Amino acid sequence: MAYPSAVRIVEVGARDGLQNEVSVTTEQKIALINALVESGLRDIEAGAFVSPKWVPQMADSSEVIKGIAKHPNVTFSALTPNLKGAEAALDVGIKEFAIFTAASEAFTQKNINCSINESIERFKPVVELAKANGVKVRGYVSCVLGCPYQGEVEPEAVLDVCKQLLAMGCYEVSLGDTIGVGTPNKVHTLLSLLLEHISADKLAVHFHDTYGQALANISKALEMGIATIDSAVAGLGGCPYAKGASGNVATEDVVYLLQGLGIDPQIDLERLAKAGWAICEALNKQPISKVSLALQAKC
Ligand code: HMG
Ligand code: MG
Repeated sequence: MAYPSAVRIVEVGARDGLQNEVSVTTEQKIALINALVESGLRDIEAGAFVSPKWVPQMADSSEVIKGIAKHPNVTFSALTPNLKGAEAALDVGIKEFAIFTAASEAFTQKNINCSINESIERFKPVVELAKANGVKVRGYVSCVLGCPYQGEVEPEAVLDVCKQLLAMGCYEVSLGDTIGVGTPNKVHTLLSLLLEHISADKLAVHFHDTYGQALANISKALEMGIATIDSAVAGLGGCPYAKGASGNVATEDVVYLLQGLGIDPQIDLERLAKAGWAICEALNKQPISKVSLALQAKC
C-alpha cells in the first residue's frame, strides 16, 4: 500500500470544535492554541470572522488571534465568509483565509444564508483582498458525503464546487463530511472521481466522526494519496447548522494512526493530549478520543 510519505494535519479544534461547544473564555482559547503550537502543530485554524448572531462562540476571534503567541513556522487561519469577515481577519494579521460553501444547496442556505452560486460571488472580493495582501485562501466544501437536509449528495456536485473554488484561487480544497455519514466505499467513489480532475496535493479531508467512521475514511483517503487531514484536538465540536453532527475526528487519534503507519507527523502526542485535557476540563467534558482517554488512564 503506497501511503503518502508525509502528512500535514490542519488543526481545527479552536474553530470547528469550539464553535459548537459552550463558550469558553478568550484566555482559555488562547491557552489552547498556544498549547497546540507547543505540541508541534503547524497549521491551526484559530477562529471565525462570521456573524456573532449566527455563531456567538466565535465572536471574540479578533481578541483570540491578537492574544496568541506568534510563531514563524505556524500558519494561523480563520473562516472568512464574506468581505466584512476577511477585512476583520486581515486587521489582526491572519495570513490564510478559509472560505466555505457546500455541495448541497439546502445546507448552504442554512449555513451561510445564500445559494452555492451566490456564495462563490461573495468569495470573489475575499479572494481579491487576499491576493492584494499576500494571504493564502483555503476552500471548504461541506456535505461531500451526505447532507442533513437533502440526504444523498452526488460526487459530480462536489467536483463542480471544488473546481470553482480552485479556479478562483484556493490553493487547496478541504472535503467536509459535515455529518460524518460517509464510509470508506463512499470515500473511494468520491475521490476516484475528484482525482481524475484534481491532483491529490490540492485536496484535504475533513471528516466529522458522528458515525465512528472517520479513521476508516481517513485511512482510505491516505491510500488514495491524500496527504492533508483536518482534525480537532479531543474530538471537540460539531457544526451549528448540522443538527446531531458530532466533532471532527480527534487529532490524537489521527496522530496515533499516522505513527502506526510509519508516517511521522512530528507532533508530540503527550503534549497534544494534555492540551485536549485542559480544554475539556474548561468545558467540563471528557475528550472524544480513544487515544486521549487511553493516555489519561496511564497517567
Ligand atoms: P447574512 O445575515 O445573510 O448577512 O449572514 P448580511 O450581510 O445580511 O448581514 C447581516 C448582519 O450580519 C449584519 O449585522 C452584518 O453586519 C453582520 P446587523 O446589521 O444585523 O447588526 N455580518 C457580520 N458580522 C460579523 N462578521 C461577518 C459578518 N457578515 C455580516 N463576517 C453570514 C451571512 C455568512 C455572515 C452568516 O450566515 C454567517 O455568519 N454564517 C456563519 C455560519 C458558520 O459560521 N457556520 C459554521 C462554520 S462552517 C462549518 O462548520 C463547516 C466546515 O467545518 C466544513 C464541514 O465540516 O463541512 C467548514
Ligand atoms: Mg467541520
